[in-house]
Amino acid sequence: MITCSAPGKVYLFGEHAVVYGESAICCAVELRTKVHVQKNKDVVIESTLGTTGLDFEIHPYVSHVIKKMRQFADIEGVKIQIESELPVGSGLGSSAAVTVASIQALNHLYGCGLSLEDIAKTGHEIEKIVQGNASQTDTYVSTMGGVVMIPQRKKLQLLKCPIVIGNTNKFSSTKELVGNVAKLRSEFPSVIGPILSNIGQMSMIAEDFVNEGDYRMIGMLMNVNQGLLDAIGVGSAELSSLVYAARGSGAISAKITGAGGGGCMVALAEDNNTLAIARAIEDAGGEAIITKNTQEGVRLESLDG
Ligand code: PMV
Repeated sequence: MITCSAPGKVYLFGEHAVVYGESAICCAVELRTKVHVQKNKDVVIESTLGTTGLDFEIHPYVSHVIKKMRQFADIEGVKIQIESELPVGSGLGSSAAVTVASIQALNHLYGCGLSLEDIAKTGHEIEKIVQGNASQTDTYVSTMGGVVMIPQRKKLQLLKCPIVIGNTNKFSSTKELVGNVAKLRSEFPSVIGPILSNIGQMSMIAEDFVNEGDYRMIGMLMNVNQGLLDAIGVGSAELSSLVYAARGSGAISAKITGAGGGGCMVALAEDNNTLAIARAIEDAGGEAIITKNTQEGVRLESLDG
């Protein structure tokens, strides 16, 4: 049995603006999806969603991975078991992580010889098939790990501070929110256009602060980014209450991560206030997850279990 894992991600800067070609900064976080694979008589896929065969409804990502990997290897039956630390559908990149980890696990099991670039590309193709219009961000960051500037694909220095994620546990549809922003932009191009380019500017300015580890400046810009995300209508009462709870308990910064509407927010913390921030997020009705960023993208966990 072969086990591979791949990380989820948060946006420090630039969600939504990146859809219009602006820059964003994302980082892989140490919350991983593990995939165990072994050769088997039939196709069996096991996760918290159930146990199925090749099933494009219940397990669309893994089923498409198997279909795609059949182009590179003679895959008859295979058993795939999925374990995830990432909440599903909350903007932390759970679908990219399961897709990328499954590709790498089958790549090892069948000796397909795919490179990391091939894995990121194949993962993105599969996300596009399942979701329609997925950006490359999630699959790229999950494959490569680290703090990444998008679309330049430039690796920046890792952050040394703890990261606290607050999950509203409210479903958010990326497609719907991206559509809402597009509508607002077409109604008020001269207002929304500059907001989106300002968000992109923040990513550009933040690049040096990330590389220098200047958390005060990163934090100030992240908080401005949050204000502009609110301005383009992707905030919500629940997200705001988690953001202010985190800031009120000493977070360096707190903002939405991902599409918004529901889903998650992200706060940068210090070692001595991480628990207080997590507690404040929980008291405000969210689910707190304490994590850190990671240089490691998809990785082989073990060859025998
Ligand atoms: O919520 P997520 O992780 O799917 O992130 C969406 C990020 C957007 O910029 C809003 C859309 C995109 O495809 O980049």
